[in-house]
Amino acid sequence: MPTILGIESTAHTFGIGIVKDGKILANVRDMYTTESGGIIPIESAKHHAKIADEVYDKAISEAGINEKEVDAIAFSNAPGLAPCLIEGMKFAKKLANKLKKPLVSVNHCIAHLEIGRITGAKDPVMLYVSGANTQIIAYETGKYRIFGETLDLGVGNFIDTVARFMGLGFPGGYAIEKLAKFGKYVELPYSVKGMDIVLSGIQTNIKQKIEKLKLHPQVRDINKIKLMKKRKVVQSSGLSVNSSQKSEQSEVNYSLADLAFSLQETVFAMLVETAERALAHTGKKELLLAGGVACNSRLVEMCKIMCAERGCKFFVPEKSLLIDNGSMIAFTGEILFKNGIKKKPEKVDIFPRERIDNVEISWK
Ligand SMILES: Nc1ncnc2c1ncn2[C@@H]1O[C@H](COP(=O)(O)OP(=O)(O)OP(=O)(O)O)[C@@H](O)[C@H]1O
Ligand SMILES: [Mg+2]
Repeated sequence: MPTILGIESTAHTFGIGIVKDGKILANVRDMYTTESGGIIPIESAKHHAKIADEVYDKAISEAGINEKEVDAIAFSNAPGLAPCLIEGMKFAKKLANKLKKPLVSVNHCIAHLEIGRITGAKDPVMLYVSGANTQIIAYETGKYRIFGETLDLGVGNFIDTVARFMGLGFPGGYAIEKLAKFGKYVELPYSVKGMDIVLSGIQTNIKQKIEKLKLHPQVRDINKIKLMKKRKVVQSSGLSVNSSQKSEQSEVNYSLADLAFSLQETVFAMLVETAERALAHTGKKELLLAGGVACNSRLVEMCKIMCAERGCKFFVPEKSLLIDNGSMIAFTGEILFKNGIKKKPEKVDIFPRERIDNVEISWK
């Protein structure tokens, strides 16, 4: 049984996972975060270069192996931010040359889906919800086919941008989920186009509502964010309140928490609606949730309800395998390696814009 080391570096996370016979021996990751603003690709790449050796040492020690036991090095070569992909490839090549082992190039999106096999899902419709990607995918005749997708923003990037407007830092998904627990429903646009969804109109609508709130901040919101900061749920609020503003509270009848709650209810309903349509269209009986946004417990709950109503099985991997990680690269790398897919270090390259439906799936 081969031992595969997987390197993830496509965006904010540098991760190394080690897998043997489908079992995860190590999963170590370090994430580039910011207190305000989004990812600066070149800064994220610098983070990866700085942290790579440390993450590697931790992964080898967590797996309890000698590095000489590694049979191949898998790395995410597509899609992603070019400077980040280059750092990952540099590290993978260095390691391959040092250990004299082959490289296995892995498409990051396929890794997010393949790791779902660990849950026992056999032939699911996959709702892939991550930072840059939002797609409803199913395997049909040699390829992962996209049945529906966002026509503009990835849902994770959409949530992160809203979180940034609210002053919650990057990444914002977890902070939005916590804030939503204090909220009630306010109406937002609902935008499903057949099997696709559109998020930019909703984002503009929420942004306008936040701008209004910044002029008339709600005291109860500020207190909640302060509480969350204390509990280290959010990094900084970016909002402040003074006594003259307090007296104007009554002019808006919603809070940041209400917007967080309504964002989740609206956008997740759009995702679940299109996923259900794909289940009906393909006749498949399993739904697999993949990607970082699948960490959200409200989305999981909504998917479970829909699947129960349709008599479908629902699968979601554990959180450490949802957000970008090296284990999903190693896990997919092992499948490819066992099917004879490997390359010499001088033959590999990065493909920042490769789409999942462009990849020939020769291993299924
Ligand atoms: N609890 C949560 N609720 C909602 N979103 C979340 C939660 N936890 C994480 N996220 C979001 O998940 C995203 C990160 O997921 P992931 O690491 O899979 O994406 P990515 O690698 O940036 O994108 P892609 O896989 O498309 O290249 C971020 O946008 C983050 O805000
Ligand atoms: Mg990802």
